[in-house]
Amino acid sequence: MEMQDFKKDFPILQNRKITYLDSGATTQKPIQVISKIDEYYEKYNANPHRGAYSLSIEATEAYENTRTKIAKFINARSREEIIFSKNATESLNLLAYSYGLEKLKKDDEIVISIMEHHSNLVPWQKVCNKTASKLNYMYINDQFELSDEEIESKITDKTKIVGITHVSNVLGTINKINKIIKYAHKKGAIVIVDASQSIPHMKIDVQELDADFLVFSGHKMLAPLGIGVLYGKREILNKMSPFIMGGDMIEYVHEQETTFAPLPNKFEAGTQNVEGVIGLGAAIDYIENIGYDKIKQIEDEVVGYAIDELKKLDYLDLYLTPNKENHSSVISFNIKGVHPHDVASILDSEGVCVRSGNHCAQPLMRFLGIDSTCRASFYFYNTKEDVDNLISALNKAYNMFKKYINL
Ligand code: ALA
Repeated sequence: MEMQDFKKDFPILQNRKITYLDSGATTQKPIQVISKIDEYYEKYNANPHRGAYSLSIEATEAYENTRTKIAKFINARSREEIIFSKNATESLNLLAYSYGLEKLKKDDEIVISIMEHHSNLVPWQKVCNKTASKLNYMYINDQFELSDEEIESKITDKTKIVGITHVSNVLGTINKINKIIKYAHKKGAIVIVDASQSIPHMKIDVQELDADFLVFSGHKMLAPLGIGVLYGKREILNKMSPFIMGGDMIEYVHEQETTFAPLPNKFEAGTQNVEGVIGLGAAIDYIENIGYDKIKQIEDEVVGYAIDELKKLDYLDLYLTPNKENHSSVISFNIKGVHPHDVASILDSEGVCVRSGNHCAQPLMRFLGIDSTCRASFYFYNTKEDVDNLISALNKAYNMFKKYINL
C-alpha cells in the first residue's frame, strides 16, 4: 500500500524530532484544526448565546453548527442529543450524578468491565455508595476479551446501568458493544458507551448501536484539550436534572426556585469552550476528509507490523488479544523484570514517546497481576518507520538493563 505522508499536516511532528506513540493519551493536532481556532480568535471571538450583536451571533452559529455536525457524524436523531462537556470524564460524571444518583436504589446493580478507565469506574463507586446499589464487574478471559458467558452471567434483571468502554485504553481490545447493548436492553438496563478510544479510529452510529449514552473526548481525535461530548437519547436526557447549575441552562430564575432550559442548554452551564467546539468541528472535517476506511487501512498495516515486530522480542511481555479483528491501536508491553517508567525514559532519550504507568486502570492492572505497563498507541499519522524506531529504542533499553534483570 502506498503510504500517504499525513505527518506534513502536523506542525509538531515537523518541528520536533520525535516518534509520537501516545495518541491514546492525546493526539497531535493538524494545521487545519489549529488554523480554525486561530481564525476564531482573529475574526469572530465573542461569548455565544449572550449577545444580540453580530460578532456574538457568528460565534453562536459556529458553536451550534458544530453541534449539528457532531449529530450527523455519529448519526444522532437530533442535535439536542449532543451535549458539550469538558471531556469524556465530565460526561460520565454528569451521567453518574444526573442519572445514577437519581434513578438507582438499594440492591440495584451497575455492571462495568474490569478494563474501564477510572473515569467510568470511580463515579459508579460513588453512586453505589450513596444509593446502596452494587457495582459488579465483567472480567476478561485469557485472550484479554469479554466472553459471551461473562456478559450474560453478569448482566441480570437487577442491572440498571451497564458502563462499557468500546476499546480498552490499555489492551486495545474492541469490546462487543452490540452484543452488550442488546443483552442489557433485554434485561431492562441502560448502556453507557465510553467511545474515547474508539471514535478516533472507527465509525460510530449511535442509532445502529442503540446506545443510550455515548461519551468521548475531542483531544483524542485531533481536537483541542478540554472539549468533550455526551450523546444521550433525548427521551432519557429530558427526564434528567441538570448536573452543573449556572448561566444559560436556566429558563426562569426566581428568588427561591428555577426552571431549566430545554435540551441541550440544560446541561451546558456557564460560558462554554467555543474554541474547543470549533476545533472539534475542524477535527471531524479532517477525519471525514481522510475517511475511516483509509484510517483503518493505515492502522491495520502499521499496528499489524508493530505487533509482528514486538512479538519477535522475546524479552517482552505483550498484553493483547491474539484475535486481530478484536484489537485496535493500543499495544501494552513490558520488558520482563524492568519497570516501565525506566523503559519509557530510555525510549524518550531516543525520541520515542510512549505512556508508562497504570493508564488510569488500576483494577485492570491488579487483575493482570502487574502494576504498570508501557503503552504505544498509534494513529493514522504513524508509519512503519515509527515502529522501527520503537523497536530499535527497545533493543537499546533491553541491552542497558539486561545485566540487572533478575527473573
Ligand atoms: N485516558 C488517556 C489515556 O488512556 C489519558 O492515556
